[in-house]
Amino acid sequence: YASTIEADLVVIGGGPGGYVASIKGAQLGMKTVCIEKGETLGGTCLNVGCIPSKSLLNSSHYYHLAHAGELKKFGILVDNVKLDLERVMEQKRNTVKALTGGIVGLYKKNKVEWVKGHGKITSPNQVNALGPDGSVISTINTKNIIIATGSEVTPFPGLEFDEKQIISSTGCLSLNQVPKKFIVIGAGVIGLELGSVWQRLGAEVTAVEFLPTIGGVGIDGEVSQAIQKMLVKDSWNFKLGTKVTAARRQGNDIIVSVENVKDPSKKEELTCDTLLVCVGRRPYTANLGLEDLGIERDEKGRIPVNNRFQTVVPSIYAIGDCIHGPMLAHKAEDEGVITVEGIAGGAVHIDYNCVPSVIYLHPEVGWVGKSEEDLKKEGIEYKIGKFPYLANSRAKTNAETEGFIKILADKNTDKILGVHMICSCAGELINEAVLAMEYGASAEDVARTCHAHPTFAEAFKEANLAAYFGKPVNF
Ligand code: FAD
Ligand code: NAI
Repeated sequence: YASTIEADLVVIGGGPGGYVASIKGAQLGMKTVCIEKGETLGGTCLNVGCIPSKSLLNSSHYYHLAHAGELKKFGILVDNVKLDLERVMEQKRNTVKALTGGIVGLYKKNKVEWVKGHGKITSPNQVNALGPDGSVISTINTKNIIIATGSEVTPFPGLEFDEKQIISSTGCLSLNQVPKKFIVIGAGVIGLELGSVWQRLGAEVTAVEFLPTIGGVGIDGEVSQAIQKMLVKDSWNFKLGTKVTAARRQGNDIIVSVENVKDPSKKEELTCDTLLVCVGRRPYTANLGLEDLGIERDEKGRIPVNNRFQTVVPSIYAIGDCIHGPMLAHKAEDEGVITVEGIAGGAVHIDYNCVPSVIYLHPEVGWVGKSEEDLKKEGIEYKIGKFPYLANSRAKTNAETEGFIKILADKNTDKILGVHMICSCAGELINEAVLAMEYGASAEDVARTCHAHPTFAEAFKEANLAAYFGKPVNF
């Protein structure tokens, strides 16, 4: 028999948006139920996204250092370096298990009830949890509902994933052998990160990208070029301004048909043994019951919400990958917190200009705010402060001197408008830039803030000094 539960808040989806919203709701005194259909909590991010990909990036980086002789310069000699791919995957699985299990613990601690099932909204104040056969497991009556159902891989027309040779990001995180010839369709964030995992482990990688540049939307042109140069040095092949039109199997190979975007008569066929399709993700809102509630979706399948994350039905909210904005875990988490605070009567505020982006290559890439291209388009006068890692003492001691940090500041007010970096630890350093921008800092503010020596962060300080004063000290 189906159980009936009374709640203050039902959150549908237990990914970064949903699990954080659930915990926050319980902490603010709401009786909170989270409906998640997966076997584990954590959503895309913990199970098949951020976390497993970063584990593989880390392991493949270590392998590359040892295998390519990069440790020699530090006086570390290793012979006969071998790859144990099964152990690499085990390390990844252990990390995912520990973190998804951690959310179960957090739910217990905060008294969030997890109902395992598919959430379907039946009225503005009721959600049914359905079992795999579609039958109702629980009916939950609630004051408010948050939809946090995330996103799914955008399929490529005519290509079916077998997740062994023709793979999505999910299959790419669990391959049981290193591809020889690896093609990625789309040189966005996933193509670059997962391409570099397998390139470091021995695959020959070719990235086919529709746009003339790599790295996806919002990236600064100069940084995009720097990434490309770095990856070409690692023997990547790029086919830019090139569109994949079809792919077919031929024996054990996959033949990929591509054509030039500007001149479609320029066609070519590429051969590989493994093909990664990473042409973006799309909102996932299947069988939620939205149609019956009059909640429509926009042309990209996203759920429209107002500035309190309310849909057209006032008791139903939506956050994360299934609404507008960048599809990032930290963006979903922040929306989760402020939506719940809003339900509790608080203020709701997020500045999307201060949501950072990171691409976890080596060195890492990080940015926040406006790119040079944005500022030019918007006609804003800006100045540039740049500092190369070559001149940073910590980068020198660690022999990680590749890359730079670039500050874009308002020419008249000195206010920081954008920060772009490609350098070791950019994924950590970018958070200092976010903090500065959230506080409306000028480049001078950062340049006059004491930074510990020797650290990579001094390069951020120096780049700000260059932006406000025109000259850094150490370069
Ligand atoms: P999701 O994490 O997708 O969670 C939605 C959850 O809802 C899922 O668990 C799903 O099972 C559940 N669900 C859906 N419908 C229902 C229903 N009707 N009933 C019950 N449950 C339902 N972002 C970063 O910020 N940094 C990264 O490094 C990063 N790396 C990534 C790497 C890869 C390979 C991929 C694919 C993504 C990566 N992302 C990264 C993006 C990140 O994973 C997403 O932005 C994030 O997971 C979105 O969170 P969410 O809560 O909105 O949705
Ligand atoms: P993406 O939008 O970053 O990149 C897709 C790329 O594919 C685009 O550059 C597009 O021009 C190209 N493309 C589309 N169709 C094509 C075709 N037919 N032929 C050639 N190229 C084509 O999407 P991606 O990489 O799939 O990532 C999905 C989401 O996951 C992103 O929105 C990202 O925010 C998130 N993510 C974030 C990470 C991070 O924060 N480090 C890591 C991985 C994913």
